[in-house]
Amino acid sequence: MERLAGSKVWAEYNAAQATRSVRPLCLDAMALAGPGNGRQAIDLGCGAGKETLALLIEGWRVHAIDSLPGTRERLLAIVPPAKDRFLYVDMRPFEDIRGLPEADLIFAGYSLPFIHPKDFGRIWRMMLDSLRPAGVIAVNLFGDRDSWADVAEWNFHTEAAARQLFDGLKILKLEVYDDDGQSFRGPKHWHIFDVIARKS
Ligand SMILES: C[S@@+](CC[C@H](N)C(=O)[O-])C[C@H]1O[C@@H](n2cnc3c(N)ncnc32)[C@H](O)[C@@H]1O
Repeated sequence: MERLAGSKVWAEYNAAQATRSVRPLCLDAMALAGPGNGRQAIDLGCGAGKETLALLIEGWRVHAIDSLPGTRERLLAIVPPAKDRFLYVDMRPFEDIRGLPEADLIFAGYSLPFIHPKDFGRIWRMMLDSLRPAGVIAVNLFGDRDSWADVAEWNFHTEAAARQLFDGLKILKLEVYDDDGQSFRGPKHWHIFDVIARKS
């Protein structure tokens, strides 16, 4: 990922995701939410669609959101024909969305940090508003010690601020990753919060 992500960077990033496994954070959230049974999930920033596909296979209806051109075609290419009627693809930027469907599971894998701080609060509230009682939300957030934390267009949180986002929800898991590592584009310091919470 370059410091200022654009379509080209996301296209390359998502192309490189084709062979990875479904993100454990999504699998954990699915286990905590229980069987899909036709219930509604949202995959916000669905990228290559790995988690969207996993949710569909487990019986969820999926509202997949990603503004990257070609997202609908990419998802339809990997979704079995019997499942495509359970998929709705919204290709608007998060910033243009004013309401989300009611959902029992919301997954946002490495997508929320790239929202401008001026828009983040409204989008976060919209997500929580759409979560049904007992619904599960699973997200990655970037921490203030991340090496990208000086990028003014992206949002970063102290651990206290990250926890505060879940006020009124029960945090089921909060894991902190604070270490040097690799990004898609080279070495960096990662400071990431993996959070799963349930609405009461
Ligand atoms: C780092 S990728 C993560 C993709 C996938 N969720 C994963 O875990 O691999 C971020 C994705 O969010 C999308 N995205 C980032 N900012 C967005 C925005 N403001 N509106 C809509 N999509 C956005 C990008 O197009 C990209 O596919």
